[in-house]
Amino acid sequence: MAIERTFSIIKPDAVAANHIGGITAKLEAAGLRVIASKMVRLTEAQAQAFYAVHAARPFYAGLVKFMTEGPVVVQVLEGEGAVLKNREVMGATNPEKAAEGTIRKTYATDIERNAVHGSDAPETAKEEIAFFFSTADLASLAR
Ligand code: CMP
Repeated sequence: MAIERTFSIIKPDAVAANHIGGITAKLEAAGLRVIASKMVRLTEAQAQAFYAVHAARPFYAGLVKFMTEGPVVVQVLEGEGAVLKNREVMGATNPEKAAEGTIRKTYATDIERNAVHGSDAPETAKEEIAFFFSTADLASLAR
């Protein structure tokens, strides 16, 4: 499988609960490498734009409120089949349905306050990475 990049957010619930290290350790243990990382506080406009695909959903307003309640850590992850691997390590969106040992099973509270976001496909990953990181940011980190 090819080396891929994917995009991850450690959400406000997990940052507030001091789980940046615990979550990153699970990503690294799965063979993913953090190649870019920064802490940001999303504005309402940024959260609305990032989750625009969910704008018609009943949970959209709550999701935007949650994602702006405190700082998040946005990361670019690299590795073999990174998109799928990250989704496996994260576990199901609803932590009640997430497998033992996954990030969401370990750290999430409920389907909304679910500790992490990860891109769902390589194309989405490209768009989500570009939302937060410039080409120059990433080029300077090429190995
Ligand atoms: P994420 O993977 O970031 O993608 C969209 C987010 O919306 C999801 O994680 C949850 O935080 C949230 N979400 C998805 N489904 C629901 C739901 N049914 N109720 C509340 N929040 C949800």
